[in-house]
Amino acid sequence: MHNMIDDIDYTLIPEEEINTIVDRIAAEIDRDYDNSGRGLLLLAILKGSVAFMGDLMKKIKRPVEIDFMKVSSYGSGTKSSGKVNILLDIHRGDLANLDVIVVEDIIDSGNTLSYLVDYLKLKGARSVRCATMLDKPSRRKVDFIPDYCGKEIPDVFVVGYGLDYDEKYRTLPFVGVLKPEIYSE
Ligand code: IMP
Ligand code: MG
Repeated sequence: MHNMIDDIDYTLIPEEEINTIVDRIAAEIDRDYDNSGRGLLLLAILKGSVAFMGDLMKKIKRPVEIDFMKVSSYGSGTKSSGKVNILLDIHRGDLANLDVIVVEDIIDSGNTLSYLVDYLKLKGARSVRCATMLDKPSRRKVDFIPDYCGKEIPDVFVVGYGLDYDEKYRTLPFVGVLKPEIYSE
């Protein structure tokens, strides 16, 4: 059996640190949104954010709705194509009574999130914020600052905790850096 761990150069964020990060972000969200019955929607972007979403939604104490969108800006490799395509949309006619938090795995160029925030505002969301597990601010092509950020990381390609390389490694419970020979093959 192929062992995914053998392809990892080093661990960037171990599981215990991920848990601490998720606890903090859940507490920040509970602090920022009151419990007055206004609808709050956690909108996870498939597929990379599933691990973060699954952990985060269990830690938020106030009631939330969940939904999913799927977009693509990456091909199968490690470079962004720059263009955002909606592959799966939310089928809600009216976002007007909802505060939306877009849940992302990682912000790189910023293209995906800046596009989505505009899109959701156009769809009538009362407010739109972003919670991302990881951020690579040094890679920005368009200005975008997440409202909730797990950890800023340097310009390295990471996998695990939902993040993939060519659809692999998403199931690793930690965030790691791939051995360079894996993606230069
Ligand atoms: P952006 O539109 O350039 O900000 O790209 C964000 C998306 O690119 C993320 O949701 C990921 O799917 C993907 N991505 C960016 N950096 C990485 C990485 O280091 N590993 C895996 N996927 C990444
Ligand atoms: Mg993604």
